[in-house]
Amino acid sequence: MSEFPRSSLRVFPSVEALHAAALEVAREILAAGRDAKGEIHIALAGGSTPQRLYRLLAEDEGIDWEGVHLWFGDERPVPPDHDDSNYKMAVESLIRHIPVPESRIHRMRGEDHPAAAADEYEARLERHISSRLDGRPVFDLILLGMGDDGHTASLFPGTAALRENRRLVVANEVPQLGTTRITLTYPVLNAARKVLFLVSGAGKAPALAAVVAGGKDAPPAAGVRPERGELLWFVDEAAAGELP
Ligand code: 6PG
Repeated sequence: MSEFPRSSLRVFPSVEALHAAALEVAREILAAGRDAKGEIHIALAGGSTPQRLYRLLAEDEGIDWEGVHLWFGDERPVPPDHDDSNYKMAVESLIRHIPVPESRIHRMRGEDHPAAAADEYEARLERHISSRLDGRPVFDLILLGMGDDGHTASLFPGTAALRENRRLVVANEVPQLGTTRITLTYPVLNAARKVLFLVSGAGKAPALAAVVAGGKDAPPAAGVRPERGELLWFVDEAAAGELP
């Protein structure tokens, strides 16, 4: 893999500044032209970091949500009302506050068998997203986080999904969590027009340093390299604490 593009990395003095900048990226995309079908496709990250951005988006009266489809980068094997559900988190921090109809909210069915849920989601992506790169659906924006171990979405170190180079969505067994998760794969992540990582906190510093260092031992998040699109890493000083 080529060297990490340092130009993609922006270090912010605080998590507040990080999210203010992320809001601007999202506003710019949401103000941009829609595709031929008048649509924009955005994949939301799970976890806790993005919640601040989702609340800022929910409070922003100036955003035009017309034609916006919201998707998910990954989901836990739980029903949509479970406290561990990424969908539930997004509903509470964003979706319930904005005028996007249910028909444009694409939930990964965590309550179903993971393999069936992955198949359903892949078919849904193919059906709804018309922009293509080498046959793969192109998201306008994919938001991602990164775990302390360098995982992103549910692409965890040492798991089978890291080797998936054809499917867009898979059920990924994660032995270190004792569970199977549903996740987008590198093929669809790397077809996106823009990928924005949101990473904050000292706990992420070793993994971020490993991503930037690159090489064959780089953690899963390092494998997200949009082939034609723009890669952005928005991190705070705490997460950047071990960068050379
Ligand atoms: C998930 C997320 C996951 C998350 C990282 C970072 O389902 O947990 O999709 O990939 O982005 O674990 O989470 P934080 O941002 O909460 O540290």
